Amino acid sequence: MQRIILDVDTGLDDAVAIILAAGSPSIHIEGLVATSGNVGLERTLENTLNVCEVVGIEAPVYRGSSQPLVRDKVDAGDFHGESGLDGPVFQPRRRQQVQEGSGIQFIIDTIMANPHEITLVPVGPLTDIAVAMQREPRIISRVKEIVLMGGSFVGGNVTKEAEFNTYADPEAAQIVFTSGAPLVMFPLDCTTKVTLSPEQLERYHTFTGESARLFCSCMDSYMANYQRKGKGHPAMHDPLCIAYLIDPKPFLFERHEVSVELEDAPTYGKTLKGKETETGGVLVAKKGDTTHFWSLIDQALLSLR
Ligand code: BDR
Ligand code: CA
Repeated sequence: MQRIILDVDTGLDDAVAIILAAGSPSIHIEGLVATSGNVGLERTLENTLNVCEVVGIEAPVYRGSSQPLVRDKVDAGDFHGESGLDGPVFQPRRRQQVQEGSGIQFIIDTIMANPHEITLVPVGPLTDIAVAMQREPRIISRVKEIVLMGGSFVGGNVTKEAEFNTYADPEAAQIVFTSGAPLVMFPLDCTTKVTLSPEQLERYHTFTGESARLFCSCMDSYMANYQRKGKGHPAMHDPLCIAYLIDPKPFLFERHEVSVELEDAPTYGKTLKGKETETGGVLVAKKGDTTHFWSLIDQALLSLR
């Protein structure tokens, strides 16, 4: 069983990561922390609570960081809509409400109380993880693994060179990538190769149940936003981290050091490939298996109903 904490900036593909985690028997969600990213914190928090309510997650949801460590805030409303989760209409919640206390402290306390048991899955800017490491450096050797979506070695999706999550908080990303923690990275190199086709989406419209309906309304907007921007089929960035935790076998990796460009230059926020290593460094995903990925989504949607 993989015991995970999801750190999310709930937009449309973050929602799929939450759905996949909730519907997979080998994943246990200890809690979720909403962070600022795709849109502001109050909206990512609301989106996270709403998705958890619909898919039946009872794990606690906490508030994370409302702004990056150093840089000014940027958002990704273009891809996720003004609310960050355009598409689904949510009913008033009956079960889920935000927990008192800080999400960063929740991350620290959970890892310290369960050494080598907890996997962190940050799929937004890395602000919360960096602050947690600064506040309690012992989590670096006590976390089981950090499986994150972010960075790119094949060109960016916000600037020519930088991917959104690392661009949105480069200073935090640099702290995490150079921390020495056991890291698995899903950069655009891998995530842009696993996409949703219109035929596949049409097939999901035949699935029944609230979670499948939520999935489809998120993916209808995601598909429309990609098409409006002339970007082809939508990429399944964030849920690939969960797919890896369910079954790492279909992925191809390289292991090397990673750092982040922090100079005030057009390359600000770009991830840089360092020296290749046998151990340590970062395990960087290069390729996934699209068919296998969608079979995991099928299973999750069928089990959630
Ligand atoms: C990342 O940026 C966000 O918009 C997505 O949710 C994903 O985490 C992709 O660059
Ligand atoms: Ca995200």
